[in-house]
Amino acid sequence: MAIRLGDVAPDFTAETTEGTVSLHDYLGDSWGMLFSHPKDFTPVCTTELGAFARRKSEFDRRNVKLIGISVDPLESHRSWVGDIEETQGAELNYPLIADPERKVADLYDMIHPNASDTLTVRSVFIIGPDKKVKLILTYPASTGRNVDELLRVIDSLQLTAKHSVATPVDWKHGDDVIIASSLSDEDAKQKFPEGWNAPKPYLRIVPQPK
Ligand code: BEZ
Repeated sequence: MAIRLGDVAPDFTAETTEGTVSLHDYLGDSWGMLFSHPKDFTPVCTTELGAFARRKSEFDRRNVKLIGISVDPLESHRSWVGDIEETQGAELNYPLIADPERKVADLYDMIHPNASDTLTVRSVFIIGPDKKVKLILTYPASTGRNVDELLRVIDSLQLTAKHSVATPVDWKHGDDVIIASSLSDEDAKQKFPEGWNAPKPYLRIVPQPK
């Protein structure tokens, strides 16, 4: 069954470049980002793994633990890691799951047979500290992901988890936000005593809460 937003992220135990990892134990109280790579020794994946490693401190600052997966075996991952370091200028600094039997890929529905019978698509699952899936993205193998966009959605998810707000189109950290529709004007006055700008009654704009 496909995983949907709000589901508990299925737990699993798998071999990784950092030893045996059980997902829920690995995440602990942190946020998590599980992302799939179609295959080892492929060019787009090599750039992605390098970029995630170079920018890991930005995920750390947001309390997000990274974990990648590729359906190739551990020995293959171990030799690929050298190429990533050599070509991308970064040492792999998060676990990369080896999934030759596609247990995790199947559990997370990462193989889309009409795209490929053997390779995973580029899936991203962002998981909250409650272990629930907060965001799912699916890219084709030919399109590398965008680290800035992943950090941006994490900022939005973390902000909206804490405050009764939503983030508008192209929002980035520091921009104005929208008061959640679920909040009545009366309740909004308590939470946003300085008021808001409302070009329409349903579009109530406030500065980003601290
Ligand atoms: C790549 O990472 O470059 C790639 C992997 C699988 C299919 C196409 C591209």
